[in-house]
Amino acid sequence: MTDPDAPRDAADGAKDDAEAASGASGAADAGTVVELAKRRGFFFPANEAYGGTSGFYTYGPEGAALKRNLEAAWRDRFVTREGHMEIDSPTVTPEAVFEASGHLDTFDDMIVECPECGATHRADHLVEDNTDIEEAESLDTERVADLIAEHAIACPSCGTALADESVDAFNLMFETNIGPGSSSPGYLRPETAQGMFVEFPRLAEYARNQLPFGVAQIGRGYRNEISPRRSLIRVREFTMAELEHFVDPESDEPPIERVEDVSVPLYSAATQDGEDDGDVTWTTIGEALADGTITSEWVAYYLGIARKWYDRMGVDMDRFRYRQHLPGELSHYASDCWDAEAEIDGNWIEITGFADRGAYDLSKHDTYSDEDYSVFKAYDEPRTTERPSIDPDMSVLGPEFGGAAGDVADELAALAARDPSAFEGSEVAVEVDGETHTVPTEATGFAVREETETGEHVTPNVIEPAFGIGRVLYTVLDHAYREDEVEGESRSYLALPDELAPTFVGVFPLMDKDGLGERARAVAADLREAGLAVTYDDSGNIGRRYRRQDEVGTPYCVTVDYESLEEGTVTVRERDSTAQKRVAIEELPSRLAAFRAGEPFDT
Ligand code: ATP
Ligand code: GLY
Repeated sequence: MTDPDAPRDAADGAKDDAEAASGASGAADAGTVVELAKRRGFFFPANEAYGGTSGFYTYGPEGAALKRNLEAAWRDRFVTREGHMEIDSPTVTPEAVFEASGHLDTFDDMIVECPECGATHRADHLVEDNTDIEEAESLDTERVADLIAEHAIACPSCGTALADESVDAFNLMFETNIGPGSSSPGYLRPETAQGMFVEFPRLAEYARNQLPFGVAQIGRGYRNEISPRRSLIRVREFTMAELEHFVDPESDEPPIERVEDVSVPLYSAATQDGEDDGDVTWTTIGEALADGTITSEWVAYYLGIARKWYDRMGVDMDRFRYRQHLPGELSHYASDCWDAEAEIDGNWIEITGFADRGAYDLSKHDTYSDEDYSVFKAYDEPRTTERPSIDPDMSVLGPEFGGAAGDVADELAALAARDPSAFEGSEVAVEVDGETHTVPTEATGFAVREETETGEHVTPNVIEPAFGIGRVLYTVLDHAYREDEVEGESRSYLALPDELAPTFVGVFPLMDKDGLGERARAVAADLREAGLAVTYDDSGNIGRRYRRQDEVGTPYCVTVDYESLEEGTVTVRERDSTAQKRVAIEELPSRLAAFRAGEPFDT
């Protein structure tokens, strides 16, 4: 069996793809993919019977299967193969959590309202759409308002000038009430991450309090986007797949040797600021760490793992890059962040964020809640340290310093910890409110005690790869779309990887007569029994049936004909090459499983 993750150079990967699809052309325009998605049941706007609700989509049968397969592939790579845990936490979350996490104060986008028609727009996107500025999100609201005025940007809905309008912060969280009344406000979670941070004390117990460990979650996130757009790309309810890897900042290191040689297309903050704007540099993870382009080894590790995973999912490596966040663009919790971006219809779209969140979230929950968000780290050997302390004689300090006696005692304690040598003479001097007080050393009760410690409390750092499943799915579809000619007829097909295809095999009788239908239905039933996703189709001519399966990305089709009845063999046809071969019916499940595991079709 071939390792689907086996390292391969990215540039070669892109070349392989181009060759496999010889004569085929990719890069569909957005309308083609959206139309295909709707017509063939991948996804479509929800609630259209009631006029539709902008920013909400339903996955149809093909899309739901593709999404399930994509999530399974993510789980395989980022949970199972990494040895992490997966949880499932609620989507409705009490306000206190988002007070602590900072989302209540800072999870904002910039909004501008049209004075004429009342339409609201994302102000930074208006600037990006009307100027050469690529990341207006990193600017502040005043600067964005100035740019709207400078460039005479008008309301996209009615054309009224927006120059005099204010640009405000708009919090993206959907608010609700937990239970009747309004005394217990809650929010639909804007990220699955907080569910993993809040439950950290229990999760650490399950991990036997041993760092490092990772917790993952695949689930819905909600953001009240100001202007949903581009189909699945910017919606108000979407599935996220997030991993929180908790590590000891002092001593844990990733197995970087596994990804050192993986080549990655980097678009660093320095390049974005520099003159060669737009240029991506292909380099290896090892080199990027060595020259300081990527500073966190943990972030680098996941960039390497994810690059190979995207390749495995069929993302076109010529239309893929890692872009580093500009300083002003970083989220309130992140110290370094890289986005995986895919090119769709000429635009670069963020599909995943890789952030070093430091100890930000756990420290916040430690402060705001009653729980302890640290892990006790035992030393290999107990450590004995000398600890200076004081035990002041208040019957001396009280009469001497009156109301300042308590402060004098506090200053003595601080001095003992800072500079024990100050207690070597007969008197010690400390300053309280600008006044120097002298205390006889005897009255301080100064002593140095030996203390043996078996370990210390550590607040872990968190490395977070946060994937938007909908955006990855859209990218996979867009990059898999091909058009070519077969026997003089044009066809479109989705060159989806086998593991993602909603249907793995289509089974057709040549005609539904002379026992061909019965035989084909039996073949389909056997393949289903073998655990494969099978579609049975007996309507229309065989060419039509092939096209139908090609269009939804089914990798193999099996046709039962008269020879099948006589010889016990069927025709198997491969989607991209349209090559055909005869296979014995009894070997069919094992041969198809072998193709799925990577055996070339033409052997
Ligand atoms: P953007 O700048 O495009 O709004 P973001 O920086 O807010 O994205 P993150 O907060 O990093 O996105 O969210 C993690 C991932 O969740 C993104 O990489 C993306 O794949 C997905 N995501 C975020 N917002 C949306 C949305 N409105 N619709 C669909 N997916 C989204
Ligand atoms: N959890 C990361 C994000 O939502 O951006």
